[in-house]
Amino acid sequence: MMRPLTLSHLRLLLLLSLFHLSTSLNDAAEYLKLTLLHKPPFSYPHQSLEFDTHRLSLLNKTLKSPLISGASSGSGQYFVELRLGSPPQTLLLVADTGSDLVWVKCTACKNCVKHKLGTDYRARQSITFSPHHCYSPVCKLVTHSSRDRHCNKTRIHSPCRYEYEYSDGSKTSGFFSKEVTTLKTSSGQVVKFRYLNFGCAFEISGPSVTGASFNGAHGVLGLGRGPISFSTQLGKEFGNKFSYCLLDYTLSPPPTSFLLIGSTRMTNRNMSFTPLENNPLSPTFYYIAIKHVFVDGVKLPISSSVWAIDNLGNGGTVFDSGTTLTFLADQAYRQILRAFRRRLKLPVMANPTLGFDLCVNVSNVRSIRFPQLRFELGGGAVFSPPAGNYFIDTAVSAKCLAIQPVNSRGGISVIGNLMQQGFLFEFDGDRSRLGFTRHGCSVL
Ligand SMILES: *[C@@H]1O[C@H](CO)[C@@H](O)[C@H](O)[C@H]1NC(C)=O
Ligand SMILES: *[C@@H]1O[C@H](CO)[C@@H](O)[C@H](O)[C@H]1NC(C)=O
Ligand SMILES: *[C@@H]1O[C@H](CO)[C@@H](O)[C@H](O)[C@H]1NC(C)=O
Ligand SMILES: *[C@@H]1O[C@H](CO)[C@@H](O)[C@H](O)[C@H]1NC(C)=O
Repeated sequence: MMRPLTLSHLRLLLLLSLFHLSTSLNDAAEYLKLTLLHKPPFSYPHQSLEFDTHRLSLLNKTLKSPLISGASSGSGQYFVELRLGSPPQTLLLVADTGSDLVWVKCTACKNCVKHKLGTDYRARQSITFSPHHCYSPVCKLVTHSSRDRHCNKTRIHSPCRYEYEYSDGSKTSGFFSKEVTTLKTSSGQVVKFRYLNFGCAFEISGPSVTGASFNGAHGVLGLGRGPISFSTQLGKEFGNKFSYCLLDYTLSPPPTSFLLIGSTRMTNRNMSFTPLENNPLSPTFYYIAIKHVFVDGVKLPISSSVWAIDNLGNGGTVFDSGTTLTFLADQAYRQILRAFRRRLKLPVMANPTLGFDLCVNVSNVRSIRFPQLRFELGGGAVFSPPAGNYFIDTAVSAKCLAIQPVNSRGGISVIGNLMQQGFLFEFDGDRSRLGFTRHGCSVL
């Protein structure tokens, strides 16, 4: 979703983005054959693709990439390395479970800020780069800029132009293309994945993709549930599963976290599972259901309607690696805030850090104990994050509640990456469930 933490972003409006086509397909393949099937329209185009794969025998293998914290460059994001092209060019992308598109800044990028960590992706230096034709079925999977309405079927050089927008209005546009990506399995085997569909970006705008938190990134690795995400494109070959473990990025040097495409050995061992909920109006997000919230074991009086996804597709709760803080529906937030205020036995700051409602000054406190926050999720799974996941250092000796209210009507509650730290999460597409355990990070 891209709601990285920098102070100017703390109060972003949560808007439901409806750019994503409601399509269910899996298009990862060595050879890809696409067939367009028309179905009755449902407010926007709705199609389905058929695929024909030349199977790689990778089903029991797992791809493993380190996840790098952006803390050293002042970012609340996690990055992942992607090797794109022939010969491979190594790029650093923001790992984002709240969006679908994989995109990188291309050398012709008009307003891409040059950064220290290397150059942008150079399409001309890769012999395997090729933009999709605007008439190709794959091009229907991305949203288009107005210029693309005049697609000329017979002209050879009519690239598929995409325009992709994040919930804060940040945008990327360019050519939707395909390219070879070189991946490594957890046992070290190098695998070439042909035809990774991705955006070669010529223009980017907005705080999420140009701001400080993006510093050092070449693009975004969308890991959402939609058809064009990295996880969906590769998923089929790897059992439609991916997992990650985000480790505390306030530690210095930060420990290495991993993103795995495929199964982990942890599955079914000590893992709690909660079903993924579907929101046909927002097929990108990993929705889960919050049933109850507890503070120090006391269930808060929050009506279940506060958490529901309504008929318009508004509301609900998503797990998002691209958002730093946690955003909860306003009514729930007020209850949590009240409960914390009542139970905190630490000196509450009269003037909390800007952007936060509740901060404590722990400079003269010998033993710091925070009230315990616990979420009961759909299916009975219990998520009990450690206090460090929801009280963060904002200044010397100041610790603030890292939860924000969702004020906009129809806004989505978001469990951000800070709240996810130290847990192994497994996103299982086939079984439509999210698994998690606090005892899994060391096995990755
Ligand atoms: C994967 O592993 C399981 C059990 O370890 C085995 O039964 C299955 O045949 C394997 N699948 C492939 C494609 O190798
Ligand atoms: C499409 O491209 C062909 C070949 O370049 C050209 O002859 C034709 O006029 C174009 N059609 C439109 C509607 O622009
Ligand atoms: C915390 O309290 C100490 C005095 O006890 C003070 O010196 C310090 O400035 C305070 N910190 C913040 C962030 O307000
Ligand atoms: C399973 O969880 C328990 C505590 O709930 C822990 O002591 C144990 O080490 C875990 N087992 C594995 C294999 O991680």
